[in-house]
Amino acid sequence: MFDTRKISENFLISEDIVVYSGDCLEFLKKIPNQSIQLIVTSPPYNIGKEYETRLKLESYLKQQEAVISECVRCLSLHGSLCWQVGNYVAKGSIIPLDSVLYPIFSKFGLKMRNRIIWHFEHGLHCSRRFSGRYETIVWYTKSDEYIFNLDSVRVPQKYPGKKYFKGPNAGKYSCNPLGKNPGDLWNIPNVKSNHIEKTEHPCQFPVELVERLVLAMSNTGDWVLDPFLGVGTTIIAAIRHNRKGAGAELVPRYVELAKQRIQQELAGTLRTRPMDKPIYDPESTKNSLTIPPWENEIFAKQLKLLDDKKSYIKK
Ligand SMILES: C[S@@+](CC[C@H](N)C(=O)[O-])C[C@H]1O[C@@H](n2cnc3c(N)ncnc32)[C@H](O)[C@@H]1O
Repeated sequence: MFDTRKISENFLISEDIVVYSGDCLEFLKKIPNQSIQLIVTSPPYNIGKEYETRLKLESYLKQQEAVISECVRCLSLHGSLCWQVGNYVAKGSIIPLDSVLYPIFSKFGLKMRNRIIWHFEHGLHCSRRFSGRYETIVWYTKSDEYIFNLDSVRVPQKYPGKKYFKGPNAGKYSCNPLGKNPGDLWNIPNVKSNHIEKTEHPCQFPVELVERLVLAMSNTGDWVLDPFLGVGTTIIAAIRHNRKGAGAELVPRYVELAKQRIQQELAGTLRTRPMDKPIYDPESTKNSLTIPPWENEIFAKQLKLLDDKKSYIKK
């Protein structure tokens, strides 16, 4: 497959793909009112990653408010905004960022539709609290008339063969043959070192996560925007489903990687984890690492040798 769409550096409604190298506020100011159908982003979390300066929470929220205000202006009347965030951590105490951002979104009149829990298995191991294994995606719409293409994102039913056992439909299949609503708890692997999509960016989100949002909340030909673009994941998900994609990124190296990945996507060579791929289960694939070494016979014998070491130490 070869896609002839090109990457532009400044926003023009007539373009298809825009990667702006610089500050998102400057970029957003050039986008016309109500021209964007979907905004998906994972902003800096203010936890001291290499690309962010740690700010006091109040200053961080002020910066976020300025960006959110511009996003709301750009968003179409039927549009959606999805803010993917985790926790702000201060001296071991956590503040869920979606809760402190909520008053800002409500002040702009946005309506919350879902607070999606994105669950994953890998991350830092904590010793003074339970290890964090989820983040959230808060979905807001500008009005009550919004796009939600549920059929495009249905997932397989647990019991597709189940039938009504009484009433007028008795004997007929009770479930939707297109699949079920994916719900608001999404189990999608995060992009850690073994993930096929991993780049040198410390916290990219997976393409499949954005694909579900793009399919559900926009239509073919719509604009999808990410003000904190990172290595281009949102644009990749957008162009894969024939939407237009735009974003801004401050760090030149990430801009370069975003452009490379977008070019690979256009050429059909970007490797990503497919949306419908089940979660890897090491137990069912009998991965040898799932056998505790202390239950392994040979290893037990080797341990025994160590126990007996006195017998071969020369006196
Ligand atoms: C959490 S990361 C987003 C990663 C992205 N979702 C991906 O999959 O690659 C936040 C990104 O925002 C960028 N950033 C921070 N402040 C910015 C600003 N004012 N304008 C544009 N980008 C900014 C950071 O450099 C970082 O790459």
